[in-house]
Amino acid sequence: MERFALASDAVDPRQVPQRTLYTGSRVPAIGLGTFGSDRFSADQVAQAVRGALAAGYRHIDCASVYGNEPQIGPVLAEAIAAGLDRRDLWITSKVWNDMHGRGRVLLSCERSLVDLRLDYLDLYLVHWPFPNYHPPGCNVGSRSPDARPYIHEHYLDTWRQMERLVEMGLVRHIGTSNMTIPKLERLLADARIRPACNEMELHPHFQQPELFQFCLDQGIQPIGFCPIGSPTRPDRDKTESDTVDIEDPLVVQIARRLGVHPAVVCVKWALQRGQIPIPFSIHRHEYLANLRAAVQDPLTDQEMRDLSGINKNCRLIKGQVFLWKDNQNWQDLWDLDGRITPP
Ligand SMILES: NC(=O)c1ccc[n+]([C@@H]2O[C@H](COP(=O)([O-])OP(=O)(O)OC[C@H]3O[C@@H](n4cnc5c(N)ncnc54)[C@H](OP(=O)(O)O)[C@@H]3O)[C@@H](O)[C@H]2O)c1
Repeated sequence: MERFALASDAVDPRQVPQRTLYTGSRVPAIGLGTFGSDRFSADQVAQAVRGALAAGYRHIDCASVYGNEPQIGPVLAEAIAAGLDRRDLWITSKVWNDMHGRGRVLLSCERSLVDLRLDYLDLYLVHWPFPNYHPPGCNVGSRSPDARPYIHEHYLDTWRQMERLVEMGLVRHIGTSNMTIPKLERLLADARIRPACNEMELHPHFQQPELFQFCLDQGIQPIGFCPIGSPTRPDRDKTESDTVDIEDPLVVQIARRLGVHPAVVCVKWALQRGQIPIPFSIHRHEYLANLRAAVQDPLTDQEMRDLSGINKNCRLIKGQVFLWKDNQNWQDLWDLDGRITPP
């Protein structure tokens, strides 16, 4: 019996649905995002993690590049010391783009383990398939002179290091993020340990149906980032043509029926569709509402069908900083014609 004290209005973590990975491991079907979007400090995010654990969250989506693992680590340690069973937690972290390749992946993982005060991660992801460094917070127009395209042999080199982390017992599962079908096909052909999860942008206005279905068919669990359409994303990630999920008339109408914020409808849609949403918020009423979305008032089948019709193919995190030569646009990063964009 867990000794860790939940808040009086918490969601019982045992009631939160779980997804089963191809390894048989089970993951809480909703997690808390921790990217502060340059707006929220590391301490604010760590405080949200503390509150979220007491509210019943057991899945936290971290990354070294978010710059707050050293602040989140003590919160996890405190919760475990207070009786939270490590085995009931699901902690993800990610290797950043400047740490791909031989030797560096291990260094990066060890850094995250030290910062997060853990002796293993449940999931470790390759954050982006492009190895080029750019400083956190840089403008989308900025280009690294070291920018490189996706080169499969290089990615595989990184993946072999990821596999090694599993063999060493430092991570339980490995996965990908920001991938495309042609890149995943190459990886699946060569991986000794298959990716358990693919973290990808997913919200009602960006449903990525082909990639989503491809992942399911391959036994890869999709994890959906920006599940609410990331209204607080950095200004540098906003363009005039971006649409706003939480202002969509259908989302707003369903929210009115349920008496919730439209954000909660986005979270419910994600949960019921089968991805694992990882909504971010530092506000307790919001992250509690998002967790409650997993245990009460499901959307109707008709609402789910209607929501599948509002996809606008509106990618918010376009990845412009990864472009590797002049006269390219961000679509080149996403292999839209079904093959890996040539160097
Ligand atoms: N793998 C990757 O490359 C990648 C990329 C991006 C993100 N991620 C991960 O995905 C997580 C989530 O993405 P995100 O943070 O960009 O966007 P998001 O979760 O779609 O949106 C977060 C914002 O939505 C608002 N919100 C959240 N819950 C709400 C509620 N119940 N009611 C009203 N408003 C609510 C909050 O804004 P207010 O504070 O204004 O209320 C919050 O800042 C990140 O934190 C990160 O862990 C991964």
